Amino acid sequence: MTTEELLRKFDDLFGHGNEPQIFFAPGRVNLIGEHIDYNGGCVLPAALEIGITALVRPNSSSIVEMKSLYTKGIVSIDLNNKIEALENDWGNYPKGVIAYLLKENRKLKGCSILFYTTLPAGSGLSSSAALEVLTAFLMLKIAGEKIHPVEIALLCQRVENEFINVSCGIMDQFSVAMGKENCALLLNCQSLDCQYIPLQLNEYTLVIMNTNKKRELASSKYNERKNECDAALNELQNHYPISTLCEAELYQVELHIIDETLKKRARHVISENARVKQSMEALKNNDLKKFGTLLTASHLSLQNDYEVSGFELDTIVSESLKIESCIGARMTGAGFGGCAIALVESSSVEEFKEKVSAVYYNKTSIIPAFYESKIGDGVRELSFDMTVKS
Ligand code: GLA
Repeated sequence: MTTEELLRKFDDLFGHGNEPQIFFAPGRVNLIGEHIDYNGGCVLPAALEIGITALVRPNSSSIVEMKSLYTKGIVSIDLNNKIEALENDWGNYPKGVIAYLLKENRKLKGCSILFYTTLPAGSGLSSSAALEVLTAFLMLKIAGEKIHPVEIALLCQRVENEFINVSCGIMDQFSVAMGKENCALLLNCQSLDCQYIPLQLNEYTLVIMNTNKKRELASSKYNERKNECDAALNELQNHYPISTLCEAELYQVELHIIDETLKKRARHVISENARVKQSMEALKNNDLKKFGTLLTASHLSLQNDYEVSGFELDTIVSESLKIESCIGARMTGAGFGGCAIALVESSSVEEFKEKVSAVYYNKTSIIPAFYESKIGDGVRELSFDMTVKS
């Protein structure tokens, strides 16, 4: 959709007035380090160029009215009243953010907001973090309030944990807030120390593959994994002075954790954290093949030990790996459906997509989608020609 079309839509919905301001927050893809952020290790995500755009016009009232181009009805809140969540409502994300900004005594202004997304919802590319960070950023910006993007990320994580009731870590909100063009973020989720790693994939392309399998029970299963990790950590803390599961060693898990399920969960976490470090080495040495093998090993660990994959994700990954031009593939994000990534020789990407698409459809009766989004910057304000406003 062009800016002109969006502006016209905005005026149709909210009436004519001053030109709205435009803001954008990207989705993210996680290259490696899955289910590591809430276990205190390192992750390697990157912000995408696809994401959510918001058009915003302040009004002189205390009412915030929000509309998404994809749903009926307007979500409306009064900044002077208590803000409550509704069941299964996309509006809970921006509502939660506004409620938490108010709790922090931030001065906010009433406004009309139109959201437009190029990010498939519920696909594991962090559409909810993008919506949260975008809302916080624009509400603060139109009110002239200053805040560091890392603080925005932390506030949005709290919203997700307490208002939405998903015990997620900091990875998604941090990548959306702090992403940088052509760079992955090596984020230490314990210290929040972050290094930008230029992503040189040489003759390879990162293909994002959407299984188009609707995620089911994703948040309850997610919270269950988090609780299992906490239980494994508790066991180990009876023997070692550690404060996160990522500090433990594999032999310690084998020695002290009796419960088979907890043992598997801890095994994934510790081996995945090691794979992030090995990936950094491989990328530093320009060894893309090694990086590819680590991606595949990560998938196997998520499939067998962490058990967050599923038939569709396993099918798309294993079929990708059967194609010679693909040197590694894995599910990305929380799992239970959603997206996978594959590292594919750039000259064969079209052929790769055709082959995977055909065989995946054959096995699942679902048509997958493919994205080759570039790596972009984090949340920002745009000018009308959609370039960044300085
Ligand atoms: C979701 C969560 C993140 C992270 C990933 C799994 O995207 O929001 O915090 O835990 O799952 O790596």
